[in-house]
Amino acid sequence: MPIVFNNETREFHLYNENISYIIKILKNNQLGHLYFGKKIHHRASFEHLLKVVGRGMTVCVFENDNDFSLENIKQEYPSYGTTDFRYPAHQIRQENGSRVTNFEFVSYNIFKGKENIKDLPATYVECEEEATSIQIKLYDSVMKTELILNYTIFENHSAIARSARFINNGDEKITITNAMSASFELSDDQFEMVQLSGAWTRERHVKVRPLQPGIQSIYSSKGASSSNHNPFIAIKRKETTENSGEAYAMNLVYSGNFLAQIEVDNFELTRMMIGINPFNFEWELSKGNSFETPEAIMVYSDEGLNKMSQTFHNLYNNFLVRGKWKNKPRPILINNWEATYFDFNEEKIVGIAKKAKELGIEMFVLDDGWFGKRNDDTSSLGDWYVNKEKLPNGIDGLSKKIQELGLKFGLWIEPEMINKESELYRVHPDWVIKTPDRNTSYGRNQFVLDFSRKEVVDYIYSAISALLRTSSVSYVKWDMNRNITEAFSIKLPAERQGEIMHRYILGVYDLYERLISDFPDILFESCSGGGGRFDPGMLYYAPQTWTSDDTDAIERLKIQYGTSFAYPLSSMGSHVSAAPNHQVKRLTSIDTRANVALFGTFGYELDLNKISEAEKAKVIKQVEFCKKYRELIVTGDFYRLISPFEKDYNITSWMVVSKDKKRALVGYYQALNYPNQKLTNLKLVGLDENILYTVKQLNLELYGDEMMNLGLVLSNKPEELGLEINENDINDFISYIFEIEEK
Ligand code: DGJ
Repeated sequence: MPIVFNNETREFHLYNENISYIIKILKNNQLGHLYFGKKIHHRASFEHLLKVVGRGMTVCVFENDNDFSLENIKQEYPSYGTTDFRYPAHQIRQENGSRVTNFEFVSYNIFKGKENIKDLPATYVECEEEATSIQIKLYDSVMKTELILNYTIFENHSAIARSARFINNGDEKITITNAMSASFELSDDQFEMVQLSGAWTRERHVKVRPLQPGIQSIYSSKGASSSNHNPFIAIKRKETTENSGEAYAMNLVYSGNFLAQIEVDNFELTRMMIGINPFNFEWELSKGNSFETPEAIMVYSDEGLNKMSQTFHNLYNNFLVRGKWKNKPRPILINNWEATYFDFNEEKIVGIAKKAKELGIEMFVLDDGWFGKRNDDTSSLGDWYVNKEKLPNGIDGLSKKIQELGLKFGLWIEPEMINKESELYRVHPDWVIKTPDRNTSYGRNQFVLDFSRKEVVDYIYSAISALLRTSSVSYVKWDMNRNITEAFSIKLPAERQGEIMHRYILGVYDLYERLISDFPDILFESCSGGGGRFDPGMLYYAPQTWTSDDTDAIERLKIQYGTSFAYPLSSMGSHVSAAPNHQVKRLTSIDTRANVALFGTFGYELDLNKISEAEKAKVIKQVEFCKKYRELIVTGDFYRLISPFEKDYNITSWMVVSKDKKRALVGYYQALNYPNQKLTNLKLVGLDENILYTVKQLNLELYGDEMMNLGLVLSNKPEELGLEINENDINDFISYIFEIEEK
């Protein structure tokens, strides 16, 4: 049993082949944290890890005990106000105004498998052997409130899932003002913090900074996990590389406001936590009610950042993504957004679809602009019925025509939003999130529906499900294009307004759950102005996410590279779009565009009737190539080789290796060309050192150990590499793909 409780020493040891996590019940009955890291031997007592040091001027818990202060001890789920002065993991306001809490150990329950979290996305296991869980029950006798800390350790994965549940059994009403999902502490501060930050069209860039005393944090207050910062945080040793050294990471399975925070105290202890952002958050708990936090995933790696990422990838592919598309290659799609924007009719759409079919593409996705009177972004959100002027045969008629061509049909929706110019707004202006007597801010001419209200979610559910029932839809792109301002719900009393942001996300999850249960065959792709809500919460419902509205291949290198820190390739929507690119106006070859998009869920987003015959011939080959490798992309192990965030930002490289190590695909990308170049030894990883492989494009046979220690020797001259060259190929933004297979 990989979770052990020692009654004598009152210690819990959670362990598997890779990691250990140790908790101790302290002498005041609160929980202390002893260790998280590489697996260590189980032993009768870990007492020696608890160093209680008396320090001058410290406030201590007990009279006549000058050593025992929570300030000097690592805490498991820290509280504020009883000698620990650091930032706490939870805080509760009581009726008398006090915020002091004291949750003491009561009991525990160890079981095989894992429980779900009510109404929230979370990792799951299909068979009990895949994980072991423990619930530790604590109790605050003044508030008569229980706190259950949930832990799951996965078999063969260096990961622990955590969440917390508060249950009020007292007569008083209490108000939770902070409830983090997880917190742990490390004994030193010799780390660098890694975060994925950016903005719209440049999401999830990798940023690294050394830890400093005090608080360093990232957060969202936008009502979505956001493109500003991803709900992911890691710390790594200075010497940690992609393939060696220690790293710890936390990722929140949640799509709303979050806080990820690291505090280094004045004795160089590092406290790391993640959860719902306490800023603007409150949750009232009256007698008999409970509150559950979202789940946090904690990962440890002693084999560098690649291993950390692979742990997340394997966990999400196997224990988070659900349904028919789990671990399955996805259809190659063509999306009409960048081909037509709002300007289309049935003829144009069928024209693009026909060409797509000819070139081997498998699915057509109709993006924004098909409903109500929507000809630009000023109207019709909320009116989920077809625009007959554009599509006289309806979605039903169009989807049938597309299917007759031999393609699947996909559809764009933005169910959480409303335009003032809509039938829905005329009937329900009160459904908009807005604060009475105040201006309501505009974003893309639209407003946010109050999804904290059940009747609003019910209405949207009936509209969207009717639409999906009456047409042959195989895929849905669920977009969300503005953040929440003037957050207020007319259905909540004054003292509960702090709940709206969380209730909103619960409403979104409710709608997702109903739709995926009703339509289990539909592949959902989440989207939020591109990657503004790319998080594990969404992956529980939609196995893939539109990674970014930036479709430029060179920008995408950074975005996809950063996204891979936590998220698998199977989750990253990535398309070949037109050149010059619509976002940055850059000209890149169709080869490079495809070579980048291949490392994700592949598709196209341009008018295939407008490209040259030579490019069409290339598209045919790209589609064939993708079909050959998409299973490897979805199921293989991804390794980052050269970072676009380091050195001169000019080279990026990555690769995918099959689980049996018999096949691999390498992508190598050079942004700008430069004269008189040196040769590059591109060292690969993850291969079997004893297997003799063929490297197709180089016409070479090489052992795994040669490619991993010596590398592939590359120059920037395609002809020297034996690669096919086209006179029109642009010499900036070149890229190579290498197919590697056991001989
Ligand atoms: C934002 C998305 O990210 C785009 O791909 C596209 O669907 C537009 N919205 C449509 O309005």
